[in-house]
Amino acid sequence: MRKLNNILVTGGAGFIGCNFIHLLLQKTPDFFGRIVNFDVLTYAGNLANLADIDLEFGGRRYFFEHGDICDRRFTEALFTKYDIDTVVHFAAESHVDRSIFCPGIFVKTNVFGTLALLDTVRNAWKNADGSMRDDVLFHHISTDEVFGSLNDTGYFTEKTAYCPHSPYSASKAASDHLVFSYHHTYEIPVTLSNCSNNYGPYQFPEKFIPLMILNILEKKSLPIYGNGKNIRDWLYVEDHNRAVWLVMNKGKSGSSYNIGGENEWENIALLYKLIEIVSEKIGLDKDSVLGTIVYVKDRSGHDWRYAIDCTKIKSELDWKQSVDFEKGLSLTVDWYLSHMEWIENIRSGEYTRWLKRNYGSR
Ligand code: NAD
Ligand code: DAU
Repeated sequence: MRKLNNILVTGGAGFIGCNFIHLLLQKTPDFFGRIVNFDVLTYAGNLANLADIDLEFGGRRYFFEHGDICDRRFTEALFTKYDIDTVVHFAAESHVDRSIFCPGIFVKTNVFGTLALLDTVRNAWKNADGSMRDDVLFHHISTDEVFGSLNDTGYFTEKTAYCPHSPYSASKAASDHLVFSYHHTYEIPVTLSNCSNNYGPYQFPEKFIPLMILNILEKKSLPIYGNGKNIRDWLYVEDHNRAVWLVMNKGKSGSSYNIGGENEWENIALLYKLIEIVSEKIGLDKDSVLGTIVYVKDRSGHDWRYAIDCTKIKSELDWKQSVDFEKGLSLTVDWYLSHMEWIENIRSGEYTRWLKRNYGSR
């Protein structure tokens, strides 16, 4: 079991990162350390996701630093300021559709940003004699999309060859390779996890599940790409983060771990399920909601199926999923129903103005 004390969480104001911080500070009684959330606050980063954390732990065990992972000088100063011994690297551009329209920013953040961060730890974690410290860890958050696409059978394992298809997954694959290359070349202790599709509270409503929930609520059309038969393997975000924490504590340095829901759904079947849940909760006529489904032009290069084999993390680290899908979807719908203000803020631009007021133009 590693001792993880001062953790730099990159991208902690985004969906998975903020859930990770909630998990560690509110639901992990054996974690006594400090968390530094390092985020540039793109459209996907939102400090409102951590307002309760700031209130309870701010200035003692929780700190926020507004900056870009590409900015090496800024990042280096953080290592000294907080005596960082652990990095968990969530920060990324994460949306496949956006990567198809503007790939450059994905390469900048996901590839060059990761490279800058690796160079920073390489310097910051050197012993006086030039050797690398062994009481530190860089955990890299990756995705199952680096493995490409499956046909109707088979699973991605840790040994599956990388074959990314979208600019997003190509940039994530490049960053994974850099992480392992820095482990082999400079002996930085690293672990890496490749996870399937997450869902849960605080997910930005560009992604399938929150987009569909909100569109149902607002009686907008429900856009299904292609024939709706593409398959994703869904996992509740807290289950993902529990797995990440386990890997960070007990995973073998230099290793990767697949994390998945073992929960495959065709997009259209998942949409039917969401329509059922939302309609029941707020008393909508299910048939009229079904009538708002629209089949739209397919995503370019749309991967057919993702499915994770997570035997390794189950057998080596004793992890398992704990949130049943129906229950997780219900919790997620309830969360969006009770956070309409959060949604309005994201959309109204008020959040953007608040950011400018508090942080200037950075
Ligand atoms: P997200 O888009 O919700 O959040 C990304 C966060 O990173 C935001 O807070 C953003 O402000 C921050 N960020 C972006 N560029 C930055 C930069 N240059 N410097 C500092 N911060 C920056 O993403 P997410 O869905 O929470 O995904 C987090 C990580 O998990 C990503 O690495 C993603 O590839 C990976 N992942 C996501 C999923 C999923 O289903 N969402 C599944 C597997 C892996
Ligand atoms: O598999 C892990 C990946 O899951 C992560 O690495 C990514 O960061 C994350 O965004 C997610 O990628 P996907 O492309 O699978 O997620 P998205 O929610 O964008 O889409 C899920 C599926 O739904 C996909 O097959 C495309 C389809 N879709 C999506 C949207 C937004 C639609 O049919 N209609 C839509 O409007």
